[in-house]
Amino acid sequence: MGFPVEALRAHFPALALKDDGHRRIHLDNPAGTQVPRAVADAVARCLIETNANLGGHFSTTVAAGRVVDEAHAAMADFLGAAGPEEIVIGPNMTTLTYHLSRTLGRGFSPGDEIVVTRMDHEGNVSPWLQLSEDRGLVVHFVPFSTDSWQVEEEALAAVLTERTRLVALNHASNLTGSINRVKTLTKVAKAAGALVYVDAVQFAPHGLVDVAELGCDFLACSSYKFFGPHMGIVWGRREVLETLAPYKCRCSSNGLPERFETGTPQIELMAGLTATVDHFAELGAMVGEAGPRRSRVAAAYAASIAHEAGLATRLIAGLSAVDGLAIHGIVDPARVAERVPTVSFTVDGIRPDSLVRLMAAENIFVWSGHNYAWEIVHQLGIPAEDGVVRIGAAAYNTPAEIDEAVYSVRRNVAMLRQQRG
Ligand SMILES: Cc1ncc(COP(=O)(O)O)c(C=O)c1O
Repeated sequence: MGFPVEALRAHFPALALKDDGHRRIHLDNPAGTQVPRAVADAVARCLIETNANLGGHFSTTVAAGRVVDEAHAAMADFLGAAGPEEIVIGPNMTTLTYHLSRTLGRGFSPGDEIVVTRMDHEGNVSPWLQLSEDRGLVVHFVPFSTDSWQVEEEALAAVLTERTRLVALNHASNLTGSINRVKTLTKVAKAAGALVYVDAVQFAPHGLVDVAELGCDFLACSSYKFFGPHMGIVWGRREVLETLAPYKCRCSSNGLPERFETGTPQIELMAGLTATVDHFAELGAMVGEAGPRRSRVAAAYAASIAHEAGLATRLIAGLSAVDGLAIHGIVDPARVAERVPTVSFTVDGIRPDSLVRLMAAENIFVWSGHNYAWEIVHQLGIPAEDGVVRIGAAAYNTPAEIDEAVYSVRRNVAMLRQQRG
Protein backbone atom coordinates (compact mmCIF):
# COMPACT_ATOMS: atom_id res chain seq x y z
CA MET A 1 0.00 0.00 0.00
CA GLY A 2 1.34 3.45 -0.93
CA PHE A 3 1.47 6.23 1.63
CA PRO A 4 -2.05 7.67 2.06
CA VAL A 5 -0.97 11.28 1.66
CA GLU A 6 -4.33 12.60 0.47
CA ALA A 7 -6.16 10.88 3.34
CA LEU A 8 -3.58 12.34 5.73
CA ARG A 9 -3.93 15.84 4.27
CA ALA A 10 -7.69 15.69 4.78
CA HIS A 11 -6.99 15.77 8.54
CA PHE A 12 -5.21 19.15 8.27
CA PRO A 13 -7.68 22.01 7.62
CA ALA A 14 -4.85 24.53 7.12
CA LEU A 15 -3.57 22.68 4.06
CA ALA A 16 -6.76 23.51 2.18
CA LEU A 17 -6.73 27.23 3.02
CA LYS A 18 -6.08 29.84 0.38
CA ASP A 19 -4.91 33.45 0.38
CA ASP A 20 -6.73 35.57 -2.21
CA GLY A 21 -7.56 32.38 -4.08
CA HIS A 22 -3.97 31.10 -4.07
CA ARG A 23 -3.16 27.70 -2.62
CA ARG A 24 -0.58 27.55 0.16
CA ILE A 25 2.46 25.32 -0.09
CA HIS A 26 3.85 24.61 3.35
CA LEU A 27 7.54 23.87 3.11
CA ASP A 28 8.24 25.84 6.28
CA ASN A 29 7.88 22.68 8.37
CA PRO A 30 11.26 22.67 10.15
CA ALA A 31 10.12 25.93 11.76
CA GLY A 32 6.68 24.56 12.62
CA THR A 33 4.05 22.25 11.18
CA GLN A 34 0.30 22.54 10.70
CA VAL A 35 -2.02 20.63 13.03
CA PRO A 36 -4.73 18.05 12.45
CA ARG A 37 -8.27 19.18 13.25
CA ALA A 38 -8.32 16.71 16.16
CA VAL A 39 -5.48 18.61 17.86
CA ALA A 40 -7.17 22.00 17.52
CA ASP A 41 -10.47 20.47 18.68
CA ALA A 42 -8.84 18.92 21.76
CA VAL A 43 -7.36 22.30 22.76
CA ALA A 44 -10.71 24.05 22.28
CA ARG A 45 -12.61 21.29 24.11
CA CYS A 46 -10.30 21.51 27.10
CA LEU A 47 -10.68 25.30 27.28
CA ILE A 48 -14.45 25.15 26.95
CA GLU A 49 -15.33 22.04 28.97
CA THR A 50 -12.62 21.41 31.57
CA ASN A 51 -10.85 24.72 32.15
CA ALA A 52 -9.55 24.74 35.72
CA ASN A 53 -6.35 24.73 37.71
CA LEU A 54 -5.05 21.50 39.19
CA GLY A 55 -5.49 19.81 42.52
CA GLY A 56 -9.08 20.53 43.54
CA HIS A 57 -12.11 18.33 44.12
CA PHE A 58 -14.73 19.67 41.68
CA SER A 59 -15.33 18.12 38.29
CA THR A 60 -13.32 20.45 36.04
CA THR A 61 -10.17 20.39 38.17
CA VAL A 62 -10.32 16.59 38.30
CA ALA A 63 -10.75 16.49 34.52
CA ALA A 64 -7.85 18.94 34.05
CA GLY A 65 -5.67 16.64 36.15
CA ARG A 66 -6.59 13.78 33.83
CA VAL A 67 -5.59 15.88 30.80
CA VAL A 68 -2.14 16.44 32.33
CA ASP A 69 -1.68 12.74 33.17
CA GLU A 70 -2.81 11.67 29.71
CA ALA A 71 -0.31 14.01 28.02
CA HIS A 72 2.58 12.56 30.00
CA ALA A 73 1.43 9.02 29.24
CA ALA A 74 1.05 9.85 25.55
CA MET A 75 4.56 11.31 25.32
CA ALA A 76 5.96 8.31 27.21
CA ASP A 77 4.46 6.10 24.49
CA PHE A 78 5.70 8.45 21.78
CA LEU A 79 9.31 8.47 22.95
CA GLY A 80 9.54 4.90 24.29
CA ALA A 81 10.02 6.08 27.89
CA ALA A 82 9.82 3.72 30.87
CA GLY A 83 6.90 5.74 32.26
CA PRO A 84 5.13 9.12 32.39
CA GLU A 85 7.24 10.23 35.37
CA GLU A 86 10.17 10.56 32.93
CA ILE A 87 8.34 13.13 30.79
CA VAL A 88 8.81 16.84 31.53
CA ILE A 89 6.53 19.18 29.60
CA GLY A 90 7.03 22.93 29.25
CA PRO A 91 6.73 25.92 26.93
CA ASN A 92 9.40 24.92 24.39
CA MET A 93 12.67 23.03 24.04
CA THR A 94 14.86 26.07 24.65
CA THR A 95 13.22 27.07 27.92
CA LEU A 96 13.29 23.49 29.19
CA THR A 97 16.94 23.12 28.23
CA TYR A 98 17.85 26.32 30.09
CA HIS A 99 15.95 24.97 33.08
CA LEU A 100 17.65 21.58 32.99
CA SER A 101 21.09 23.04 32.32
CA ARG A 102 20.87 25.19 35.45
CA THR A 103 19.60 22.23 37.42
CA LEU A 104 22.38 19.95 36.20
CA GLY A 105 24.94 22.71 36.79
CA ARG A 106 24.23 22.63 40.53
CA GLY A 107 26.13 19.35 40.55
CA PHE A 108 29.07 20.50 38.40
CA SER A 109 32.31 22.03 39.77
CA PRO A 110 34.66 24.63 38.31
CA GLY A 111 36.99 22.92 35.84
CA ASP A 112 34.40 20.26 34.91
CA GLU A 113 33.94 19.97 31.17
CA ILE A 114 30.98 20.19 28.79
CA VAL A 115 30.93 19.17 25.13
CA VAL A 116 28.71 20.82 22.52
CA THR A 117 28.71 20.30 18.75
CA ARG A 118 28.91 22.69 15.84
CA MET A 119 25.94 20.85 14.31
CA ASP A 120 23.53 21.91 17.05
CA HIS A 121 20.82 24.55 17.07
CA GLU A 122 21.47 27.33 19.61
CA GLY A 123 18.80 25.82 21.86
CA ASN A 124 21.30 23.05 22.66
CA VAL A 125 24.39 25.29 22.69
CA SER A 126 23.69 28.61 24.41
CA PRO A 127 22.26 27.10 27.63
CA TRP A 128 25.45 25.06 28.10
CA LEU A 129 27.75 27.99 27.24
CA GLN A 130 26.04 30.28 29.73
CA LEU A 131 26.00 27.58 32.40
CA SER A 132 29.72 27.15 31.82
CA GLU A 133 30.32 30.87 32.35
CA ASP A 134 28.33 30.80 35.57
CA ARG A 135 29.98 27.67 36.97
CA GLY A 136 33.52 28.02 35.62
CA LEU A 137 33.20 24.99 33.33
CA VAL A 138 35.41 24.28 30.32
CA VAL A 139 33.61 23.99 26.97
CA HIS A 140 34.80 21.84 24.07
CA PHE A 141 33.26 22.15 20.59
CA VAL A 142 33.05 19.16 18.26
CA PRO A 143 32.90 20.02 14.54
CA PHE A 144 30.84 18.00 12.07
CA SER A 145 32.40 16.42 9.01
CA THR A 146 31.63 18.19 5.73
CA ASP A 147 32.19 14.85 3.96
CA SER A 148 29.61 12.87 5.92
CA TRP A 149 27.70 15.93 7.25
CA GLN A 150 27.61 14.15 10.60
CA VAL A 151 29.48 14.32 13.88
CA GLU A 152 32.06 11.56 13.73
CA GLU A 153 32.83 9.32 16.73
CA GLU A 154 36.56 10.10 16.51
CA ALA A 155 35.90 13.85 16.66
CA LEU A 156 33.81 13.38 19.78
CA ALA A 157 36.28 10.98 21.41
CA ALA A 158 39.07 13.51 20.83
CA VAL A 159 37.55 16.05 23.24
CA LEU A 160 36.39 13.72 26.01
CA THR A 161 38.37 13.64 29.25
CA GLU A 162 37.81 12.23 32.72
CA ARG A 163 36.32 15.63 33.61
CA THR A 164 33.62 15.59 30.90
CA ARG A 165 30.32 15.82 32.73
CA LEU A 166 27.90 16.30 29.87
CA VAL A 167 27.77 15.93 26.08
CA ALA A 168 25.04 17.84 24.21
CA LEU A 169 24.25 16.16 20.89
CA ASN A 170 22.10 16.91 17.89
CA HIS A 171 19.89 14.16 16.49
CA ALA A 172 19.00 15.82 13.17
CA SER A 173 20.13 19.23 11.98
CA ASN A 174 17.64 22.00 11.30
CA LEU A 175 19.94 23.30 8.55
CA THR A 176 21.74 20.42 6.84
CA GLY A 177 19.05 17.86 7.64
CA SER A 178 21.60 15.19 8.43
CA ILE A 179 20.95 12.62 11.14
CA ASN A 180 23.70 11.81 13.61
CA ARG A 181 24.48 8.26 14.71
CA VAL A 182 23.24 9.18 18.17
CA LYS A 183 23.35 5.68 19.61
CA THR A 184 27.02 5.28 18.73
CA LEU A 185 27.95 8.81 19.82
CA THR A 186 26.12 8.24 23.09
CA LYS A 187 28.06 5.06 23.70
CA VAL A 188 31.34 6.95 23.21
CA ALA A 189 30.24 9.72 25.60
CA LYS A 190 28.92 7.31 28.24
CA ALA A 191 32.15 5.31 28.14
CA ALA A 192 33.86 8.52 29.31
CA GLY A 193 31.33 8.84 32.14
CA ALA A 194 29.41 11.80 30.69
CA LEU A 195 25.70 12.46 30.74
CA VAL A 196 24.18 12.80 27.25
CA TYR A 197 21.55 15.41 26.35
CA VAL A 198 20.06 14.88 22.89
CA ASP A 199 18.18 17.50 20.86
CA ALA A 200 15.66 15.53 18.79
CA VAL A 201 13.56 18.55 17.82
CA GLN A 202 14.19 18.02 14.10
CA PHE A 203 14.35 14.24 14.22
CA ALA A 204 11.03 13.61 15.98
CA PRO A 205 8.86 14.85 13.08
CA HIS A 206 10.50 12.33 10.77
CA GLY A 207 11.50 9.25 12.73
CA LEU A 208 10.48 7.12 15.71
CA VAL A 209 12.38 8.12 18.84
CA ASP A 210 13.33 5.24 21.13
CA VAL A 211 15.07 6.63 24.17
CA ALA A 212 15.81 3.16 25.56
CA GLU A 213 17.51 2.18 22.32
CA LEU A 214 19.54 5.43 22.13
CA GLY A 215 20.90 5.04 25.66
CA CYS A 216 21.07 8.80 26.33
CA ASP A 217 20.06 10.49 29.61
CA PHE A 218 17.90 13.32 28.26
CA LEU A 219 16.11 13.87 24.99
CA ALA A 220 14.30 17.05 24.01
CA CYS A 221 11.69 17.68 21.34
CA SER A 222 9.01 20.23 20.46
CA SER A 223 5.50 19.15 19.55
CA TYR A 224 4.85 22.10 17.23
CA LYS A 225 7.42 20.53 14.90
CA PHE A 226 5.43 17.28 14.73
CA PHE A 227 1.87 18.46 14.11
CA GLY A 228 1.14 19.45 17.69
CA PRO A 229 0.75 22.58 19.80
CA HIS A 230 3.55 24.98 20.73
CA MET A 231 5.19 23.07 23.58
CA GLY A 232 8.49 21.45 24.47
CA ILE A 233 9.05 18.04 25.99
CA VAL A 234 12.13 16.60 27.66
CA TRP A 235 12.47 12.94 28.49
CA GLY A 236 14.87 12.28 31.36
CA ARG A 237 16.10 8.95 32.59
CA ARG A 238 14.35 8.29 35.88
CA GLU A 239 17.50 7.39 37.81
CA VAL A 240 19.08 10.70 36.74
CA LEU A 241 15.98 12.86 37.32
CA GLU A 242 15.72 11.42 40.84
CA THR A 243 19.16 12.80 41.70
CA LEU A 244 18.40 16.36 40.54
CA ALA A 245 17.16 19.33 42.54
CA PRO A 246 15.64 21.85 40.12
CA TYR A 247 14.92 25.48 40.98
CA LYS A 248 11.33 25.40 42.16
CA CYS A 249 8.91 26.71 44.75
CA ARG A 250 9.49 25.23 48.21
CA CYS A 251 5.89 24.21 48.63
CA SER A 252 5.41 22.53 45.23
CA SER A 253 5.56 18.79 44.73
CA ASN A 254 8.89 16.98 44.81
CA GLY A 255 7.47 14.12 42.79
CA LEU A 256 8.46 13.22 39.24
CA PRO A 257 7.92 14.92 36.90
CA GLU A 258 6.15 17.71 38.86
CA ARG A 259 9.41 18.78 40.46
CA PHE A 260 10.61 19.96 37.01
CA GLU A 261 7.32 21.52 35.88
CA THR A 262 7.20 24.84 37.69
CA GLY A 263 4.00 26.85 37.85
CA THR A 264 0.66 26.14 36.21
CA PRO A 265 1.05 23.99 33.10
CA GLN A 266 -0.41 24.81 29.65
CA ILE A 267 -3.23 22.36 30.31
CA GLU A 268 -5.18 23.02 27.12
CA LEU A 269 -2.05 22.49 25.03
CA MET A 270 -1.44 19.23 26.86
CA ALA A 271 -4.86 18.12 25.64
CA GLY A 272 -3.60 18.94 22.15
CA LEU A 273 -0.39 17.03 22.81
CA THR A 274 -2.26 13.82 23.56
CA ALA A 275 -4.30 14.33 20.41
CA THR A 276 -1.04 14.76 18.48
CA VAL A 277 0.27 11.38 19.60
CA ASP A 278 -3.13 9.87 18.87
CA HIS A 279 -2.93 11.39 15.38
CA PHE A 280 0.26 9.39 14.74
CA ALA A 281 -1.48 6.31 16.16
CA GLU A 282 -4.42 6.90 13.84
CA LEU A 283 -2.11 7.12 10.85
CA GLY A 284 -0.53 3.86 12.01
CA ALA A 285 -3.97 2.27 12.09
CA MET A 286 -4.66 3.71 8.62
CA VAL A 287 -1.62 1.81 7.29
CA GLY A 288 -2.73 -1.43 8.92
CA GLU A 289 -1.27 -1.61 12.45
CA ALA A 290 -3.75 -2.63 15.13
CA GLY A 291 -1.45 -3.03 18.16
CA PRO A 292 -0.93 -0.77 21.18
CA ARG A 293 -0.44 3.01 20.71
CA ARG A 294 3.36 2.82 20.55
CA SER A 295 3.19 0.15 17.81
CA ARG A 296 0.74 2.25 15.83
CA VAL A 297 3.00 5.31 16.16
CA ALA A 298 5.93 3.17 14.93
CA ALA A 299 3.87 2.00 11.94
CA ALA A 300 2.99 5.61 11.08
CA TYR A 301 6.67 6.52 10.95
CA ALA A 302 7.58 3.41 8.96
CA ALA A 303 5.07 4.53 6.33
CA SER A 304 5.97 8.23 6.32
CA ILE A 305 9.74 7.62 6.18
CA ALA A 306 9.48 6.01 2.74
CA HIS A 307 7.21 8.82 1.52
CA GLU A 308 9.51 11.55 2.90
CA ALA A 309 12.59 9.88 1.40
CA GLY A 310 10.89 10.16 -1.98
CA LEU A 311 10.19 13.88 -1.37
CA ALA A 312 13.78 14.54 -0.25
CA THR A 313 15.29 12.75 -3.24
CA ARG A 314 13.02 14.63 -5.63
CA LEU A 315 13.78 17.98 -4.01
CA ILE A 316 17.55 17.41 -4.03
CA ALA A 317 17.52 16.25 -7.65
CA GLY A 318 15.47 19.26 -8.73
CA LEU A 319 17.59 21.81 -6.87
CA SER A 320 20.87 20.22 -7.98
CA ALA A 321 19.96 21.04 -11.57
CA VAL A 322 19.94 24.80 -10.82
CA ASP A 323 23.15 26.42 -12.01
CA GLY A 324 25.27 27.88 -9.20
CA LEU A 325 23.15 26.33 -6.43
CA ALA A 326 24.99 24.56 -3.58
CA ILE A 327 23.14 22.24 -1.21
CA HIS A 328 24.67 22.18 2.27
CA GLY A 329 24.06 18.59 3.32
CA ILE A 330 23.85 15.01 2.10
CA VAL A 331 22.87 14.83 -1.59
CA ASP A 332 23.67 11.19 -2.40
CA PRO A 333 20.31 9.41 -2.92
CA ALA A 334 21.91 6.24 -1.53
CA ARG A 335 22.27 8.07 1.81
CA VAL A 336 18.74 9.49 1.97
CA ALA A 337 18.04 7.44 5.12
CA GLU A 338 20.75 9.46 6.88
CA ARG A 339 18.89 12.75 6.49
CA VAL A 340 15.50 14.28 7.10
CA PRO A 341 13.75 16.06 4.19
CA THR A 342 15.10 19.48 5.20
CA VAL A 343 17.26 20.88 2.42
CA SER A 344 19.25 24.12 2.73
CA PHE A 345 21.12 25.83 -0.06
CA THR A 346 22.78 28.99 -1.27
CA VAL A 347 22.93 30.30 -4.83
CA ASP A 348 25.94 32.16 -6.19
CA GLY A 349 25.34 35.91 -6.14
CA ILE A 350 21.79 35.69 -4.75
CA ARG A 351 20.74 36.66 -1.26
CA PRO A 352 18.56 33.97 0.35
CA ASP A 353 16.17 36.61 1.61
CA SER A 354 15.55 37.95 -1.93
CA LEU A 355 14.68 34.48 -3.19
CA VAL A 356 12.32 33.53 -0.35
CA ARG A 357 10.47 36.85 -0.69
CA LEU A 358 9.73 36.02 -4.32
CA MET A 359 8.63 32.52 -3.33
CA ALA A 360 6.41 33.98 -0.58
CA ALA A 361 4.74 36.13 -3.24
CA GLU A 362 3.80 32.84 -4.96
CA ASN A 363 2.46 31.52 -1.63
CA ILE A 364 5.30 29.02 -1.27
CA PHE A 365 6.32 29.15 2.38
CA VAL A 366 10.04 28.63 2.96
CA TRP A 367 12.61 30.21 5.28
CA SER A 368 15.88 32.01 4.87
CA GLY A 369 18.56 32.93 7.41
CA HIS A 370 20.73 30.99 9.84
CA ASN A 371 17.66 29.66 11.63
CA TYR A 372 19.66 29.50 14.88
CA ALA A 373 22.04 26.97 13.32
CA TRP A 374 24.61 29.56 14.32
CA GLU A 375 27.49 27.13 14.69
CA ILE A 376 26.77 25.48 11.34
CA VAL A 377 26.81 28.67 9.29
CA HIS A 378 30.04 29.69 11.01
CA GLN A 379 31.71 26.32 10.40
CA LEU A 380 30.64 26.47 6.75
CA GLY A 381 31.78 30.09 6.35
CA ILE A 382 28.29 31.24 5.32
CA PRO A 383 27.62 34.89 6.31
CA ALA A 384 25.25 34.62 9.27
CA GLU A 385 23.34 37.74 8.21
CA ASP A 386 22.42 35.97 4.95
CA GLY A 387 22.26 32.32 5.95
CA VAL A 388 20.64 29.86 3.57
CA VAL A 389 17.33 29.11 1.89
CA ARG A 390 15.67 26.21 3.69
CA ILE A 391 12.97 24.03 2.16
CA GLY A 392 11.61 21.49 4.61
CA ALA A 393 9.08 18.80 3.76
CA ALA A 394 6.78 16.97 6.16
CA ALA A 395 4.72 13.80 5.82
CA TYR A 396 1.76 15.76 4.42
CA ASN A 397 3.65 17.24 1.47
CA THR A 398 3.19 15.89 -2.03
CA PRO A 399 5.58 15.38 -4.94
CA ALA A 400 3.59 18.03 -6.84
CA GLU A 401 4.33 20.60 -4.11
CA ILE A 402 8.03 19.76 -4.28
CA ASP A 403 7.96 20.22 -8.05
CA GLU A 404 6.27 23.62 -7.71
CA ALA A 405 8.87 24.74 -5.19
CA VAL A 406 11.75 23.61 -7.39
CA TYR A 407 10.21 25.33 -10.40
CA SER A 408 9.77 28.50 -8.35
CA VAL A 409 13.44 28.42 -7.26
CA ARG A 410 14.56 27.94 -10.85
CA ARG A 411 12.32 30.70 -12.23
CA ASN A 412 13.11 33.22 -9.51
CA VAL A 413 16.85 32.57 -9.55
CA ALA A 414 16.79 33.27 -13.29
CA MET A 415 14.77 36.44 -12.72
CA LEU A 416 17.09 37.74 -10.00
CA ARG A 417 20.08 37.06 -12.22
CA GLN A 418 18.43 38.92 -15.08
CA GLN A 419 17.68 41.90 -12.80
CA ARG A 420 21.31 41.98 -11.75
CA GLY A 421 22.23 42.00 -15.42
C1 LIG B 1 17.18 21.45 16.17
C2 LIG B 1 16.41 22.41 17.01
N1 LIG B 1 16.63 22.44 18.31
C3 LIG B 1 15.97 23.27 19.13
C4 LIG B 1 15.03 24.15 18.64
C5 LIG B 1 14.34 25.06 19.59
O1 LIG B 1 13.05 24.60 19.81
P1 LIG B 1 11.99 25.48 20.63
O2 LIG B 1 11.45 26.49 19.67
O3 LIG B 1 10.97 24.48 21.06
O4 LIG B 1 12.69 26.11 21.76
C6 LIG B 1 14.76 24.16 17.28
C7 LIG B 1 13.78 25.10 16.72
O5 LIG B 1 13.72 25.34 15.54
C8 LIG B 1 15.46 23.27 16.43
O6 LIG B 1 15.25 23.24 15.12
